[in-house]
Amino acid sequence: MTVAQSPIRRYTRTAMVLHWLIALLITINVALIWSVDYIPEERIRFVIDSHKSFGITVLGLVLMRLLWRAANRPPDLPDSYPRAEKRTAHAAHIALYVLMIGLPLSGWMHDSAWKAAGEIKMSLFGLFEWPRISWIMNVEPVTKERLHSLFGGIHHWLAYGLYGLVGLHIAAALKHQFWDGHAELQRMWPGRDAAEPATPSSPAPRRQA
Ligand code: HEM
Ligand code: HEM
Repeated sequence: MTVAQSPIRRYTRTAMVLHWLIALLITINVALIWSVDYIPEERIRFVIDSHKSFGITVLGLVLMRLLWRAANRPPDLPDSYPRAEKRTAHAAHIALYVLMIGLPLSGWMHDSAWKAAGEIKMSLFGLFEWPRISWIMNVEPVTKERLHSLFGGIHHWLAYGLYGLVGLHIAAALKHQFWDGHAELQRMWPGRDAAEPATPSSPAPRRQA
């Protein structure tokens, strides 16, 4: 008797490219800001400016990713995953999106409340001027100073949230792959539709976004 096989349900190429590009840019951005304590004084401005540019790029890419996701439903998780794990994965993905938007947004707000923001323009990779958030720039100095610390604090704590959640996200992906024996990483990696063992009663595959 031949055992029925269910093909791996993959994300679309566009979703994969955006996932890995955003993950790479976030990693670079965190490395850049961590390097600030170890680099010569004269390079710090360049590094922080690059951090802002990468961060704004991440914001744009995440918004594109969400638009793409709205139009192209992600593939369902394998039927064999326990319901609780499916719910947890779904909640973790929502939280990751909240952080991927909240971090650059709070950084942009923090930067807009910087007292020197009026004199030192922000430029996206030195290509063109990137606007600051005008209502924040225009508040009176004492409030602006408070907002600067507030948004800086939010930015700082969201970064800790991101470290924790990305750590769990990677651990969960590796657990599904190597502990449970599912083709988990392949869902986010292009390839031919290799089959994953399934029960003979598995439903026929449907084309996924
Ligand atoms: C900064 C780093 C990362 C972030 C912010 C991130 C974020 C996300 C998000 C938000 C999703 C859900 C996609 C959606 O449903 O629209 C996802 C899916 C996924 N990620 Fe990541 N990711 C990161 C790094 C990684 C790494 C390093 C791995 C590999 C170990 C990985 C493996 C996966 C896999 C396999 C999926 C598909 C989950 C599924 O089965 O549906 N991610 N990621
Ligand atoms: C992927 C997006 C981003 C990530 C992951 C990120 C992460 C971080 C982290 C981890 C820190 C150090 C916080 C601390 O230890 O207190 C930081 C600082 C900072 N970030 Fe971001 N950030 C992002 C986007 C942005 C954006 C878009 C801007 C501005 C437009 C920005 C502006 C800043 C500034 C001004 C600092 C303080 C730098 C200093 O004075 O040392 N960030 N960021």
